Amino acid sequence: MKIPEDHIIIIFGASGDLTKRKLIPALYDLYEQNLLPKNFAVVGASRTTLTDVEFRERMKEFLPENGVDSFLEMLYYQPVNTKEEKDYWTLKERLATIQEERNIAGNYIFYLSTPPILYEVIPRHLAAVKINKSDEGFRRLIVEKPFGTDLGSAVILNEKLLEYFDEEQIYRIDHYLGKESVQNLLVTRFANAFLEPIWNRNYIHHVEITSAESLGVEKRGGYYDQSGAFKDMVQNHLLQLVGLVAMEPPVTIEADAIRDEIHKVFKSLSPITEEEVPNHVIRGQYTHSMIRGEEVSGYREEEGVPEDSRTETYVAMKFFIDNWRWGGVPFYVRTGKRLPTKAIEIVIRFKNSPHHLFHRNEGICNSENLLVIRIQPDEGVLMKFGMKVPGAGFNVQNVGMDFHYSDLGGERLPTAYERLLLDCMQGDATLYARGDAVVAAWKFVQPILNAWEKNCDIPVYGYPAGSWGPEPAAEMIEGEGITWRYPCKNLTSQEELCEL
Ligand code: BG6
Repeated sequence: MKIPEDHIIIIFGASGDLTKRKLIPALYDLYEQNLLPKNFAVVGASRTTLTDVEFRERMKEFLPENGVDSFLEMLYYQPVNTKEEKDYWTLKERLATIQEERNIAGNYIFYLSTPPILYEVIPRHLAAVKINKSDEGFRRLIVEKPFGTDLGSAVILNEKLLEYFDEEQIYRIDHYLGKESVQNLLVTRFANAFLEPIWNRNYIHHVEITSAESLGVEKRGGYYDQSGAFKDMVQNHLLQLVGLVAMEPPVTIEADAIRDEIHKVFKSLSPITEEEVPNHVIRGQYTHSMIRGEEVSGYREEEGVPEDSRTETYVAMKFFIDNWRWGGVPFYVRTGKRLPTKAIEIVIRFKNSPHHLFHRNEGICNSENLLVIRIQPDEGVLMKFGMKVPGAGFNVQNVGMDFHYSDLGGERLPTAYERLLLDCMQGDATLYARGDAVVAAWKFVQPILNAWEKNCDIPVYGYPAGSWGPEPAAEMIEGEGITWRYPCKNLTSQEELCEL
């Protein structure tokens, strides 16, 4: 594995949760695997006044208890009021000192893990103190989600960032793309010639993508109520998965070749008009209920959520992709909080055989020809098809053939942030969203947001916490005897009610 060039990562918003929960542990894992450069440092920057020692102490919370001292020594802290230009001059000097102290070349990665309102402010100031250009070393900018709150703001944010950084320097993070099994989608599709001839409207009945979460909004009610499941999950993570499932084979495995194809998919998403929204997009909100004898609060009772909130914690939608490969194939996407389990999976449902030779006792036998790509947990791939039941007659039973990542033995799956940080350090933007694609995704979702805003008669259905969401979403998938797949903790089990 290529070790990245020496550099410093500067994390803005370093006193926030993401830094200690995800970023620092991911950097530590890279350190443990000797994947960090020899000369390297992390500089936490945020408003809170902390010393280096205090910052290191705080960052310990999600690291192993022992043996982290040499890693912690690479962490520094610089208080920065992100709206004050003078603080960036001080930061610049501090970076120069650390560089000299640790013999690091002048390469910087700036990580924006701040409230989105600062996404434009920080790059502007970095430009003002002249540390934004990749002249004397690389300068890269990682931008956390949300990338805009609607189409207009995403377009403006792109324009603003491009005033100070070039597109090649900007890394828009979508942590779903960093998941190992999401990347495996590319390999499953493009390293196996047998799938390509059937990966289209001739053989595929529909595609289903589910990201279910069993937790509620936890302590994030304030943020979440402004966002809702649609903007929090669908506009970014789930559409990225759609992009990978639906894209044409890229010319090469390089960043722009892949991102060109994803962009093409987003441009081909068949627009859902405001009039179509009530039938194509079902939204819901979890209500108070009992799960296994324990009381679970409804969304409106969560901290930071107004009592009369109409924010959706669940969305299911149906849409089409207007292109040669996918014309007429419905894509169903759903996500929700407080569902029965935590699972992310992609289901490719193939069409039934055209001629029914075999019967089941109860009637015609349609084998369930499914390919399930499991993103997490129990990462793997499951194929379901019909087999003969031993004995007299020709009775058909659905069986599964499954591969579990854990069977590879010993291979630890890197976390999404670990993979994405390493990619950025190596200058590889393949798994980061490109500006044009982000805008194309917003173009698709904006009419839905408009319809919800204009028309209060579009229902927000209640669903009891711990259930699979509102009833109308269950009826959304069309086809005889076809329903959503209700995933469980394990890849191979499937039930309407499964274990938490
Ligand atoms: C985040 C959302 O981007 O993704 C959260 O803001 C959500 O609301 C999370 O819980 C889900 O990520 P994962 O990796 O746990 O599926």
